[in-house]
Amino acid sequence: TQRTAYRSAILHSIDDPYEVGLENSFEFFEDGILVVENGHIIDLGPAEAVLARQPDSLHVTEYQHKLITAGFIDTHIHYPQTGMIASYGEQLLDWLENYTFPEELKFKNPVYARQVANIFLNELASNGTTTALVFGTVHRESVDVFFEEAQKRNLRMIAGKVLMDRNAPDYLTDTPESGYQDSKALIEKWHKKDRLLYAVTPRFAPTCTDEQLATVGKLLEEYPDVYMHTHLSENKKEIEWVLALFPDRETYLDVYDHYKLLKERAVFAHGVHLTDCECQRLAESGSAISFCPTSNLFLGSGLFNLPKMEHHGVRVGMGTDVGAGTSFSLLQTMSEGYKVLQLQQQKLHPFKSLYLATLGGARALYLDDKIGNLEPGKEADFVVLDLHATPLMSFRMQQAKTLEEQLFVLMSLGDDRTVSKTFIYGEKAYDAEETTEPAMVT
Ligand code: GUN
Ligand code: FE
Repeated sequence: TQRTAYRSAILHSIDDPYEVGLENSFEFFEDGILVVENGHIIDLGPAEAVLARQPDSLHVTEYQHKLITAGFIDTHIHYPQTGMIASYGEQLLDWLENYTFPEELKFKNPVYARQVANIFLNELASNGTTTALVFGTVHRESVDVFFEEAQKRNLRMIAGKVLMDRNAPDYLTDTPESGYQDSKALIEKWHKKDRLLYAVTPRFAPTCTDEQLATVGKLLEEYPDVYMHTHLSENKKEIEWVLALFPDRETYLDVYDHYKLLKERAVFAHGVHLTDCECQRLAESGSAISFCPTSNLFLGSGLFNLPKMEHHGVRVGMGTDVGAGTSFSLLQTMSEGYKVLQLQQQKLHPFKSLYLATLGGARALYLDDKIGNLEPGKEADFVVLDLHATPLMSFRMQQAKTLEEQLFVLMSLGDDRTVSKTFIYGEKAYDAEETTEPAMVT
C-alpha cells in the first residue's frame, strides 16, 4: 500500500519507567509525524525532521488537538461474555454458575457466536484496543468464527477454545480427548495464520481434571510457541476449592506447574492472592499475569499487589476481563488500576499505566518485536485520541500543565469517547466521526 503519514502530537512508551526512570520511558513529539507503509511503521519523529528525510510527494494527514499513541493491548478478555457484562450481585463462583455458563451455552450456535464476535470486535476498535488475548467457549466453532472475523479485520489476535471437563454443566463440558483433538485442529488451522495466534485455554484448575491438565502440558510440548491462557488465584473461595480438589499440590500455581503449564507465553489472569513462592515461580518461568482491576472490584475478588509482582520480576499486562470486567476501555481499566493501588497506599504513575497498557502488555505476550509502541519496523496498530472529547475533559486538560498531568487526566476521565480513530495494520478501522449502527442480535 501507499506510504501515508499522520501529523499530530505523538506519545509512546519505549521502556518500563520503573526500570529506566520516568524520563527514559517514553518519547513525546509535540508536533510529530508517523509514517506508515504496507501495514508497518517506517518512520517517526519531530515533523520537521521527518519531512526533511521523506519524499516531497508524501501524503500527510494532520490531526488538530489530538494525541497519537500505540493501540492498547488487552491481555485477558472473554468475547462470549460480551452479552452478560454487568450482571448483578454475585462473586466469582456463583457468578459463573448463574450468569456465565448459561450465556456461554448459546455459543453452540455459530450464527450467534459470529454476531457476538462482531459486536465484540467493534467494541475493541471503538475503545482503541488493537490486540487482545481472548477466551472462546468450550465449542470449537466459537473459536473458528472468532478467528474468521478477526482475520477479515487484519487483527493481531490471540484466542483459544476453553477446556473444561468437570464442575460445569454437562452441556458445557468436553473430555480430555475431545478437548485435545479440537485444540490441535484449531492450532493447525489458525496459529500464525496472518496475524492470528493460538492459546491453549484451560478455563481454570477447578473445571479441569488431572487428565485434562496433562493434555494441556502435552499440547504445549508439541507446539512450544503457542500460548497458554488461564485464570489463577482470583478469589479466596476459589483458592480453597483448588487446594481441596488437588490435595497433593502445595499452592494453586503448583497445580499448573505440575502439568508443565508455566512457560514463556503463559498468561494467568488475576493473581490477586499469590504467595511469594508463586510469584517467584511465575517470574523464573517467564509467565505473565494479567492485572484486571475492573473485574477484581466488580466481583469483589480483592486488590492486586502490583509492587509485589515488580519486586519478584513478574511480567504484567493489563486486562479488562469483560464480562466480569465492566469496561472494554483500557483507559478506564488504568483508572481503576490506579484506585486499586491507592486502596493499598501505593501509586500507579501515568507513564507506568501507559506502559502496562501498551509495551508492557506486548512484553507479557512476547510480541514486543511486533507491537506495543510506534518504533519503526513495528506493525502499524495505533490510536488517535481526542483530548477534548468532552467539555469536562477539554476544560480539565487546559488546566493540566505537564505531559504527565495531561496523561493522568486522559486516563482518569477517558473512555471510548476519547478514541477518535483506531488504525489496524496501517488502515483506519474505526472513526468516531462516522456514525455506527447500534448492535442488533437476531
Ligand atoms: N474463572 C474461571 N472462569 C472465569 C471467568 O469466566 N471469568 C473470571 N473472571 N474468572 C473465571
Ligand atoms: Fe477471565
